Amino acid sequence: MPQQPPPPDDLPRLEIRDLRKTERLAAAGLTARAMRDNPTTYAMFGAEPLDRLAGMQAVWTAFFHRQAPPQLGAFYRGCLVGTAAASPPGHCIGSTFPGDAAKIATGPAPSAGDPAIGDYVRAHYVLHDLAEPHWHVGPVGVEPRFQGRGIGESLMRALIAIMDADGSPSWGETDTEANVRFYRALGWDLDRTVTVSGIDLWFLGRTAPGAEAGAAGRATGGRPQSITSG
Ligand SMILES: CC(C)(COP(=O)(O)OP(=O)(O)OC[C@H]1O[C@@H](n2cnc3c(N)ncnc32)[C@H](O)[C@@H]1OP(=O)(O)O)[C@@H](O)C(=O)NCCC(=O)NCCS
Repeated sequence: MPQQPPPPDDLPRLEIRDLRKTERLAAAGLTARAMRDNPTTYAMFGAEPLDRLAGMQAVWTAFFHRQAPPQLGAFYRGCLVGTAAASPPGHCIGSTFPGDAAKIATGPAPSAGDPAIGDYVRAHYVLHDLAEPHWHVGPVGVEPRFQGRGIGESLMRALIAIMDADGSPSWGETDTEANVRFYRALGWDLDRTVTVSGIDLWFLGRTAPGAEAGAAGRATGGRPQSITSG
C-alpha cells in the first residue's frame, strides 16, 4: 500500500454545525473509531480491535438516535471529522439510565470482555453524577488520524458556547488522562477520580461564566476526591 502523505500542520477550515438526522450513523462510526482503544472499550469488548469497533458502533448508533440535541459535527469540505454532543439539563445519564443504577453499581462486577461492564461503568457515572440540573457532555470524538490538530477544541468551544448561554453547569466523565488535560485546558475542573473494575474514571465539571460560584456544587470547589469501587 502506498505511504500516505502526512497531514498539513495548519488547522483546516472547518464548518461546525448541528448534525442532521441522516448524519447520526456517520457520527456513531466516527465516535466508535475515536474510542475504539479507550480503557472502557477494552473492558467491554476485549482485545480484538474489530470487536471493539463493531461493539462501539452499535453502542453509539443507539445513543445518537435517542440523545436530545445539541449534537455538533465538525466538517471539512462536507466530510465529518469530529463530533461533540451534550445531553441537556433533565436528559442526562442520571435521568435516562435504564435500570437501578445503585443496584447494578453495588452488585458483582462483570468480567473483562463482557459488554455488561458498560452498564456497570455507566451505573457508576450515575452514582457520581452532579445532583443539580446540568449539561452532561458526551460523546466527544475526533477522527483518529486527525486528532491533536485543534478539531476537538473547536468543537468543544462551540458546545461550551451553547451550554454557557443556558447558564447551567456542565458535567462529564472520561477514561483517559490525556482527555483530562484536554478538558482542563478548556476551563473544566477535576472533581474526582473513581476506579471501577480497574478502569480509572475522571469526573469533571464546569460552571458557566456569570453563574453563581459554587452553584455547580461539586463542580467548582474543594480538592478532587479519589474513590475505588468494584
Ligand atoms: C479528546 C479528543 C476529542 C480531543 O480532540 P483533538 O482534536 O485531538 O484535540 P485538540 O487537537 O483540539 O487539542 C486541544 C488541546 O488538548 C490537548 N490534547 C488533546 N488530545 C491530547 C492527548 N491525547 N494528549 C495530550 N494532550 C491532548 C492538546 O495538547 C491541545 O492543547 P494545545 O492546544 O495546548 O496543544 C480526541 O483526541 C479524541 O477523539 N480522543 C479519543 C476519543 C475520546 O477519548 N474522547 C473523549 C471522551 S470523554
